[in-house]
Amino acid sequence: INVYVPCDSSAIALGADRVASAISEYAKNNGIDIQIIRNGSRGLYWLETLVEVATDAGRVAYGPVQPQDVASLFAANFLQAGNHALALGLTEEIPYLKKQQRLTFARVGITDPISLADYIAHDGYKGLNNALSLAPTDIVKHVTDSGLRGRGGAAFPTGIKWNTVLNTASEQKYIVCNADEGDSGTFSDRMIMEGDPFVLIEGMTIAGLAVGATQGYIYLRVEYPHAHKALNSAISAAYEAGYLGDNVLNSGKTFHLEVRLGAGAYVCGEETSLMESLEGKRGLVRFKPPLPAIKGLFGQPTVINNVISLASVPIILAKGGDYYRDFGMGRSRGTLPLQLAGNLKQPGLVELAFGTSLRELLYDYGGGSATGRPIKAVQVGGPLGAYLPESQFDTPLDYEAFAAIWAVLGHGGVVAFDDSVDMAEMAKYSMEFCAIESCGKCTPCRIGSTRGYEVLDEITQGHDLEKNIPLLRSLCDTLLSGSLCALGGMTPYPVLSALNHFPTDFGVNNKANA
Ligand code: NAI
Ligand code: SF4
Repeated sequence: INVYVPCDSSAIALGADRVASAISEYAKNNGIDIQIIRNGSRGLYWLETLVEVATDAGRVAYGPVQPQDVASLFAANFLQAGNHALALGLTEEIPYLKKQQRLTFARVGITDPISLADYIAHDGYKGLNNALSLAPTDIVKHVTDSGLRGRGGAAFPTGIKWNTVLNTASEQKYIVCNADEGDSGTFSDRMIMEGDPFVLIEGMTIAGLAVGATQGYIYLRVEYPHAHKALNSAISAAYEAGYLGDNVLNSGKTFHLEVRLGAGAYVCGEETSLMESLEGKRGLVRFKPPLPAIKGLFGQPTVINNVISLASVPIILAKGGDYYRDFGMGRSRGTLPLQLAGNLKQPGLVELAFGTSLRELLYDYGGGSATGRPIKAVQVGGPLGAYLPESQFDTPLDYEAFAAIWAVLGHGGVVAFDDSVDMAEMAKYSMEFCAIESCGKCTPCRIGSTRGYEVLDEITQGHDLEKNIPLLRSLCDTLLSGSLCALGGMTPYPVLSALNHFPTDFGVNNKANA
């Protein structure tokens, strides 16, 4: 009997390793024959540790399981789907999971992440097999047709980026995966790397074939040790089976891949400072142009994409660009893995086609606030994303709809706050974050963030608002238009959205005076 216990680091933080040991020990002591498979997380984090048992009807789930629940699970005959207070029924029927459209996360939680055989048994490497029979321009065409846009946050069309690299002649080109997932409240990159590392490896290999790059690097933040282990193990298996190397599946094509660890600076998620760091230098932002697609890593044409962008490529090549394009709305095609965090009853990973409203996400999936108090504000898109008030919760999850309300979808992080939050303090925190993480290359961000923090400190103490609020706005203007990269350039989003939507928290009695 197969018993599944996640090896995802969030599940481990909630006791998954101890639960796995307790199940294994109980079975051994009682002569029960089971096999424990450490799968990725299904992304229903409030139910972790989520233990699943394979039955003829499908997998049945129990959660949240603690080590002390294990004896009673066996007593309730959970191996035969017996009833228990923690029983959740068939996993696939849990509404949170059933209502999702899992394309990129199709295998996460289902397979053994480091088993190549399991990956292949669940449609893995179909995309690469198709790509091997296509000309590079046709591979790029599928990606262009799919409408896939950069999932790291900037939403630049992936097909156009690849086409630029394809059309830039060079002896050496690179594929770089940005796995420096630094946004607060985001974890989809980590979940993919821990729960289905082969899908990223396959996506990068396809990218290499598409643009003529023979070397790939995954730039991974050092804070992700479980992802590091899973990736290295999957890369070794892929090399052994001929999916990576000098002669990929006997095609005569070469693609090599390795993981490089970054030391965890937020700004190293910015593509040019990431490449500086990958080259062994301090993570300082470079001027653009030249674009990385023309002159990137070691001065060579480079495709640099986020984990989710690259992990979305295998299904596009397996099922065709049109299949992926059929999901979504407007110019936002396909699906976005959203990460629910903060003050929510049901935090976790929700992959949905673009177009669902933020309200549906917060209440139907997130279950409302964990404290039971009204949700006052939601920050979407990481620490540089705008705060949205309740009046904007009906905005559809779509890049353009968010841009129209001066907000961003970013990397899909959604952090909720109840009505006990002080938005002026949150604005101050955003400036402090920028001051701490600034790489220091440009003046608006280096100096402006510290001055911004000081001004907000004055404001939160109620000092001289008639002078300090216009000063804050003017400073934000400078940051918006004068910063070299998104760190300084986007810090005004959380600061000004907090001020505009919640003026009373700043001591201003109405929006007109803010
Ligand atoms: P950008 O808009 O300058 O560029 C987007 C991408 O398109 C880059 O890779 C750029 O090199 C490429 N590009 C632009 N024009 C091109 C062309 N003609 N041909 C080929 N490639 C081209 O945005 P940037 O500064 O790279 O990223 C900012 C975004 O990053 C923000 O919107 C923010 O949401 C996001 N972000 C994500 C974080 C995370 O942890 N995932 C952290 C911080 C910010
Ligand atoms: Fe560096 Fe900040 Fe300027 Fe970006 S905006 S280049 S992080 S100083």
